[in-house]
Amino acid sequence: MSKQRPSRRAFLGLAGAAAASSLHSAAQAQAPGEIRDLGETPTEYGRPSPFADSKRWSRAPDATASSSNTPLADLEGIVTPSGLHFERHHTGVPAIDPDSHRLTIHGLVDRPLVFSMDDLVRMPSVSRFHFVECSGNSGREWSPAGAPNVQLSHGLASCCEWTGVLLADLLDEVGVKPEASWIVAEGADAGLMSRSVPLERALDDVVIAYGQNGEAVRPEQGYPLRLLVPGCEGSVSVKWLRRLEVAHMPSMARDETSKYTDLLPDGKARQFTLVMDAKSVITRPSGEQKLNAPGFHEIRGLAWSGRGTIRRVEVSTDGGRSWADAEIDGPRYVKAFTRFRSPWRWDGGRHVLMSRATDDTGYVQPTLAALLEARGRSTIYHNNRIKAWEVQESGEVTNVEA
Ligand code: CO
Repeated sequence: MSKQRPSRRAFLGLAGAAAASSLHSAAQAQAPGEIRDLGETPTEYGRPSPFADSKRWSRAPDATASSSNTPLADLEGIVTPSGLHFERHHTGVPAIDPDSHRLTIHGLVDRPLVFSMDDLVRMPSVSRFHFVECSGNSGREWSPAGAPNVQLSHGLASCCEWTGVLLADLLDEVGVKPEASWIVAEGADAGLMSRSVPLERALDDVVIAYGQNGEAVRPEQGYPLRLLVPGCEGSVSVKWLRRLEVAHMPSMARDETSKYTDLLPDGKARQFTLVMDAKSVITRPSGEQKLNAPGFHEIRGLAWSGRGTIRRVEVSTDGGRSWADAEIDGPRYVKAFTRFRSPWRWDGGRHVLMSRATDDTGYVQPTLAALLEARGRSTIYHNNRIKAWEVQESGEVTNVEA
């Protein structure tokens, strides 16, 4: 899908950039005899520049907060830095010593086994880029008020490289009995958070992860061990994983009955809606940003699908009346963030920007109207509507329900 790129010099016309005659003195040669301060010495563990202030909060957190959001508008490429991966935990982050941590696999198996971290690390390993998305992500998008920025509207989604053991390999070690059809996973947090996963999926691409972006999984993400169920709602990727029970039915745990089910207008609820459908969002320009001048602005965003790869992303700058293919740049991994970019010359007028993803199953991200028709407004989960941002004549970007 190669796109014709306009002549960059003619198209960009960066009126805002400083002319050479006003070069800052920092760019000029050092004067003879000038003494400059030494910089910092090496450190044990690096930190972002103090001038870069990406945070998992875009508003001050309240005392009872149990989640924090990835600042998607601040990030480039497809990787979420580990320290900016969104958090959602139900009973706090436990402190776990990996030397005493164990994973027990039992139930409908031939040989129940207990694995230490050492046992797991010596097994064959895999490293894969996958997104994790809370099914409550974009929950505020069910209400007309929506969210003011992309961190609050879409920031319960992140993408990292995860390293660990395939669950299929562990299940092979214990020997699954023929009557088994589910896996029940339990975490070592205070509430023993647990979720059930169909055996068919557990035998597919599920990873028992101890690595995240090249280092140990962060405590907020389940240190020392988490279940990673690619493409499924985040709560089934049970953190601080300590027990897997092979069973013939789901456990019907609290977080798959009273929570994480989708209430429909007729009073029925959708249950075990695990897969996160294809979704995309423009991260720049996005809510609470401001375009400083008319002219060239690159529209950038992220797309992902719980069913496979992203085949196509289209962008509209006229509220969905016309669409143009965005350029998909960088890797296009299965069940991972995919970066799209689209050149745009802002004329200084009012514009409604949208993006629309299609995955490799042919599924197309729905409009808000189509989603409301199918599900109503009584759930907070699984909102993957086409998202709109409105660029005002002032350059300010605001949320709009379109
Ligand atoms: Co669900």
